[in-house]
Amino acid sequence: MVLFFSGTGNSKFVAQKVAEILNDEARDISDYLKRKQIPDFTEDGVYVFVAPSYVSAPARAMIDFIDQATFPEGIKVYFLITCVASMGVSPEVAKRLSEKKGFKYMGSAQIDMPQNYIIYFKTKEADENFKIINNAIPQIENVAIQIKKGEKFKEKNNRRLELLFTDLVGDLYYKFFMKTKKFTVSDECISCGKCAVVCPFGNIKVEAGKPVWGDECTHCMGCINSCPKEAIEYGKGTVGKPRYPGPFDTLKKAKK
Ligand SMILES: Cc1cc2nc3c(=O)[nH]c(=O)nc-3n(C[C@H](O)[C@H](O)[C@H](O)COP(=O)(O)O)c2cc1C
Ligand code: SF4
Ligand code: SF4
Repeated sequence: MVLFFSGTGNSKFVAQKVAEILNDEARDISDYLKRKQIPDFTEDGVYVFVAPSYVSAPARAMIDFIDQATFPEGIKVYFLITCVASMGVSPEVAKRLSEKKGFKYMGSAQIDMPQNYIIYFKTKEADENFKIINNAIPQIENVAIQIKKGEKFKEKNNRRLELLFTDLVGDLYYKFFMKTKKFTVSDECISCGKCAVVCPFGNIKVEAGKPVWGDECTHCMGCINSCPKEAIEYGKGTVGKPRYPGPFDTLKKAKK
């Protein structure tokens, strides 16, 4: 079973490619998050968790989901973390969670994908993203083959101090920075509802033809990047920046 959390599609792309090679299913955890459902997984076999790196650790939406859900005893688990620069202490976070859940931890691997954090960082133009995605494909195939063979990933030594620091920074960041107050929508909005569909928490409602944001947001950047009219901004920092439509659209447009 391959379970993924994804804001703009990078982790979904990785999950689907890995599932294809493993001849397995890739399941989006947002289907559970939107319904506030805590599942009880009964399928035996290997579990692969795919998520973006947020603040140098796996997105907490995925970590909290795994923590709350139930799984068969002693399953083997792999973590695949998509990021731009570094997955940080994701292996330590994944190992700690695996110990708590009684999983057999097989390792964490970093997959380099395009930047989606448009509100604070520079997003790249489509041709550069196209290259990054194409470079990631052999990385994805490589880890999928290792998983297929049942091999453990090679990892660095434990970094306990870094983990403590990242936990602390993450607590503050999630609490004080992951807010929706600065999202605005312009008159370009055509009321298509895509932003509402994309939000993994169902945090956006279209009211009187315009999106309205609730409070449950993890800054996944799905809404702002997916709007076909680029009608969503976050303060002034996103004005004029290229949107990242995700790997599927980036590859599709490049083929045309
Ligand atoms: C809230 C947030 C925090 C991020 N933090 C990091 C980070 O610490 N390190 C990094 O390399 N990339 C970071 N990124 C970039 C994403 O990890 C990267 O673009 C990822 O592949 C997005 O995956 P997705 O399309 O599946 O959501 C961050 C992105 C967001 C939205
Ligand atoms: S409101 Fe936007 S940024 Fe926040 S979780 Fe939903 S789609 Fe992601
Ligand atoms: S995706 Fe864009 S155009 Fe569609 S409803 Fe949302 S803001 Fe409006």
